Amino acid sequence: MRFSRPCWTHAFAISTLILSHLDVAQATWDLNSANSTCTKLVSQLGSALVVQTGPVYMIGVESAWSSFNSIRRPSCIVYPRTSTHVQVAMRAIYRDNVHYAVQSGGHSAMRGWNTVDDGVLIHFRFMKNVSYDAIKDTVTLEPGVRWGEATAALQPFGVTTPGGRLGDIGTGLLLGGGLSYFSPAYGFSADLLKEADVVLVDGRLVTATATNQYSDLFRALKGGANRFGIVTRYEMYAIHTGPPNTTPFYGGLIIYPEAQAEALLNATARYVRDVHDPNAAMLIALTFSNTNGAVVGTHMVTLFYRGTSLPAEVFGDFLRIPNSLNRTSPIDYTQACNLLGPGDDRGHGQLFGASAFSGDVGLYHNAYLQFKNFSTTFKSSLNGTVLAFTPIPESQTAAGRQRGGNAIDAPLRNYAAVQFYNQFVDDLTSVPGPVENGRQLVLSRMPRSPGLPLYINECDSKQNAFSTYGGYDFLKRTYKKYDPTRFNVRFTDGPIGL
Ligand SMILES: Cc1cc2nc3c(=O)[nH]c(=O)nc-3n(C[C@H](O)[C@H](O)[C@H](O)COP(=O)(O)OP(=O)(O)OC[C@H]3O[C@@H](n4cnc5c(N)ncnc54)[C@H](O)[C@@H]3O)c2cc1C
Ligand SMILES: *[C@@H]1O[C@H](CO)[C@@H](O)[C@H](O)[C@H]1NC(C)=O
Ligand SMILES: *[C@@H]1O[C@H](CO)[C@@H](O)[C@H](O)[C@H]1NC(C)=O
Ligand SMILES: *[C@@H]1O[C@H](CO)[C@@H](O)[C@H](O)[C@H]1NC(C)=O
Ligand SMILES: *[C@@H]1O[C@H](CO)[C@@H](O)[C@H](O)[C@H]1NC(C)=O
Ligand SMILES: *[C@@H]1O[C@H](CO)[C@@H](O)[C@H](O)[C@H]1NC(C)=O
Ligand SMILES: *[C@@H]1O[C@H](CO)[C@@H](O)[C@H](O)[C@H]1NC(C)=O
Repeated sequence: MRFSRPCWTHAFAISTLILSHLDVAQATWDLNSANSTCTKLVSQLGSALVVQTGPVYMIGVESAWSSFNSIRRPSCIVYPRTSTHVQVAMRAIYRDNVHYAVQSGGHSAMRGWNTVDDGVLIHFRFMKNVSYDAIKDTVTLEPGVRWGEATAALQPFGVTTPGGRLGDIGTGLLLGGGLSYFSPAYGFSADLLKEADVVLVDGRLVTATATNQYSDLFRALKGGANRFGIVTRYEMYAIHTGPPNTTPFYGGLIIYPEAQAEALLNATARYVRDVHDPNAAMLIALTFSNTNGAVVGTHMVTLFYRGTSLPAEVFGDFLRIPNSLNRTSPIDYTQACNLLGPGDDRGHGQLFGASAFSGDVGLYHNAYLQFKNFSTTFKSSLNGTVLAFTPIPESQTAAGRQRGGNAIDAPLRNYAAVQFYNQFVDDLTSVPGPVENGRQLVLSRMPRSPGLPLYINECDSKQNAFSTYGGYDFLKRTYKKYDPTRFNVRFTDGPIGL
């Protein structure tokens, strides 16, 4: 211990030096400050839509979920109310060569992906319309709506369109895919997309569908994250969830003591391998939290079934493991999306990392050991850690293909999306070098099974998720077509690999 501290400090000082050197290089590379662009945008759009300081500015700054992002200070925040406003902003950003970022629900765990220093932040907090067209049987969402709000607005019509599994998450989820309790039956949330209005990098507005001249863009949006343009309207196929005040689903939350970890991992491996029922969905989350210096394990699952009970042949292993809390009952879709709470806590640095497993239970046990070792070794920096598994059955990939496919293009077989999540202690504004090395070590020691895609919404910024996609070459070609000067890669933070 005595020797490790100077070592840490040294490593940290070196990395800070490298970083500040890069900042200088970056600053000379783009000579343009966003300030003058912001001044012009204020005169074009008005000071109600473009703010540079003050309380409305601070709302936009502080809405980023991860405090690694809410510490950033954009030159201005544009709050569009229409797609035309987004076009005006994007034209100016493109013309002036300034940095920018886009924020919807704010839940990205990627540093810099939903906010920016010395750049323009386009923030969708005033574009929150949700509507249901009963004739077309589609749902239209503006990008600023959160899934909890969308679910609540649609419930009176007996329909929904799936986002994620917690209410506070926003529509940015669709651009990475989207894992919901309906995914085994309908595919990634993005697979339910029917049309998207997209402001391209140069400010043109187009509507992309599966069959029009922008069908390549349409497919690329489903997994291509923030690289292909700014979506200002999502039209999605509706899913019928039953009349209000009925509980057509069965599900809930079960919590287990740490001692049941091995049994849970065994049950998870078996579920991922053997369950093919598209009506069944689960999230398995093993967690460690740092409570007054003690690292305490609490493990949990959420279960969801489209039916009137939890079939033993699907969920039996999980139901048999001795638990410390068992809350399962008939539920509606709103309740399903609230099983883990809204997920709206702010104020911590947050980072994700991803893997993907298909195979032997040994994969799961190994991942748990790496995760536990990390959680205890670096407990002084961590408020909590999670190792989560989402089973992705073959039916999910088949459903996506049936609707024209997505850029992720997973192989047709059952697998688990694996998420390694770190929440840092309150006052930490950046990750200490050794902790970052520890994170990367964990990720390198739980590699994805061959051929499986990483889930980009839950990966680390250093992971090249695009290169794991079945549609990687397609994605690169399509990117070249819609952003020939590679403006987005140069001027907004986002996934590597294009
Ligand atoms: C607590 C928690 C629970 C989660 N649960 C789930 C889950 O159940 N299922 C699941 O699939 N994922 C889940 N996620 C991951 C989630 O999918 C991603 O964090 C997602 O990126 C969040 O979208 P957002 O709109 O909230 O975030 P934002 O940070 O606003 O956006 C995410 C990214 O998309 C870009 N973006 C947003 N809107 C647009 C737009 N209109 N046009 C172009 N680019 C845009 C942003 O620039 C950013 O890069 C969860 C995350 C958290 C933190
Ligand atoms: C941009 O404006 C901000 C706020 O007025 C100022 O702090 C910053 O120095 C300016 N940046 C540049 C590069 O001019
Ligand atoms: C938003 O919804 C309201 C009420 O449903 C409607 O009047 C308005 O035109 C909608 N705006 C957009 C941009 O769709
Ligand atoms: C988990 O599975 C392993 C390997 O199949 C087995 O040896 C072990 O007994 C199982 N543990 C529990 C708690 O079920
Ligand atoms: C969990 O609760 C349900 C009732 O909601 C009950 O049927 C079941 O037996 C319980 N299972 C365990 C393992 O406690
Ligand atoms: C951990 O998170 C909880 C909930 O946000 C918070 O109350 C607590 O202060 C945090 N602890 C540390 C050490 O960051
Ligand atoms: C535990 O984590 C530390 C720090 O990342 C690492 O050096 C060590 O090899 C890990 N131990 C095991 C058994 O994985």
